[in-house]
Amino acid sequence: MSFPIHRKRRLRTSEAMRRLVRETHLEPSQLVLPLFVCPGEGVRKEISSMPGHAQLSIDELVKECETTHKLGVGGVILFGIPEHKDESASGAYDPQGITQRAIRAVKKALPELLVITDVCNCEYTSHGHCGKIIGNDVDNDTTLAWLAEAAVSHAQAGADMVAPSDMMDGRVAAIRHSLDAHGFQKIPIFSYAAKYASVFYGPFREAAESTPQFGDRRTYQMDPANGREAMHEMELDLEEGADMLMVKPAMPYLDLIRAARERFPVPIGAYQVSGEFSMIVAAARNGWLDLDRAMLESLTCIRRAGADIILTYFAKDVARALA
Ligand code: PBG
Repeated sequence: MSFPIHRKRRLRTSEAMRRLVRETHLEPSQLVLPLFVCPGEGVRKEISSMPGHAQLSIDELVKECETTHKLGVGGVILFGIPEHKDESASGAYDPQGITQRAIRAVKKALPELLVITDVCNCEYTSHGHCGKIIGNDVDNDTTLAWLAEAAVSHAQAGADMVAPSDMMDGRVAAIRHSLDAHGFQKIPIFSYAAKYASVFYGPFREAAESTPQFGDRRTYQMDPANGREAMHEMELDLEEGADMLMVKPAMPYLDLIRAARERFPVPIGAYQVSGEFSMIVAAARNGWLDLDRAMLESLTCIRRAGADIILTYFAKDVARALA
């Protein structure tokens, strides 16, 4: 008997062979592009820490959505940067707020494009925290009312799905209840269920102008050291009526994507966050990594870990690379 009998290399001899036995596929339809919408007209304000991304006024946002839709990307998720911030995040749930106006404009121009909205308060509060401050901390239950109102206002504006990212306890139930009470039984909730207090959100906070003015988010977002706790967060969100669950960030948390995929029957999303994007782009700009290959490998591996859907700033580039 000759050795070795098993030669794993036999199935790697050509691209045709490799393609035949490939286990994981990346499709533009599985990707969601995050976009930032700001006041004004004709505004494209580049985000220095996220090359290729900009704060867009509504007219520019609509153009960006047209391109995104043509490329076959699965959908967009909108983040609003309001005219004014205040203590009570009033811009977050104002029916005439920036996000609500943006949703109407995008759905009017592109009724078939899936529009998801981020439901949170941190872009709308003067202090940059995700809810009502009482004492030195975010008050959970007052914040729930704001979130529920914001979600309803997004649905009224035409959003296809809402994605709460605030990490308040009980927010999925509060949002589900309000959506149903307003006749939006058919609007699904994509819960940022396992969202960590991560350093990798740094560039996003420049993009969304949402850096907390004091303290940090560790009393509501999760401790990166904890994995079992993420399973409990997800269980609770499912019980409260979440339709899809998210793990965020993605690449340092692949174990949780896998665990969630095995444990829960609903679609699992992963958010390749701003810092993950910017690290890859920065390394490529230094000539240290090949941009396209790093982009495709990172996303393929997030899919292999078990993510059905990925929110990524590379969504359009992937669609172009795979075309
Ligand atoms: C809002 C929110 C954040 C992100 C998505 N929704 C920022 C935060 O929690 O501080 C981060 C996304 C990214 O880094 O790409 N709460």
